[in-house]
Amino acid sequence: MNPDLFEPYERLIPIKVDGRSVEVPENNTILRCLQFISMDTVSYGEFCWNGDCLNCRVRVKSDGKEKEAIACIVKARPGMEIESVSTELLQSLQAKPE
Ligand code: FES
Repeated sequence: MNPDLFEPYERLIPIKVDGRSVEVPENNTILRCLQFISMDTVSYGEFCWNGDCLNCRVRVKSDGKEKEAIACIVKARPGMEIESVSTELLQSLQAKPE
C-alpha cells in the first residue's frame, strides 16, 4: 500500500459501509478510506479526486443526521455510516481486482 496516498494518520477509526464494520485511517476523506479497504479496485475507478466529476457521491449517516456527501471532499469520522454509494463507486467496490 502506498502510504503517500493518505493524509498522515496515527490510528484507524471505525466506520460502516453498507452495514459492514471496517477500520479506516483517520484524517482522510471517505473516498480515500474506501480506497484503503479496496485498494485494487477504487484506485482504478473513474474518479477525479477533486470534487469535479461527482462520481463519488455517497449517502452518509453521522451524528444522527443523514445527508449526501462528496466522498473525495468530506472526511470520514468515527461512527460514520455510509448507507449508499454512487453507481460508479459501487462498481469499483464490487469489481474484482485484475
Ligand atoms: S471523485 Fe470526482 S467529485 Fe469526487
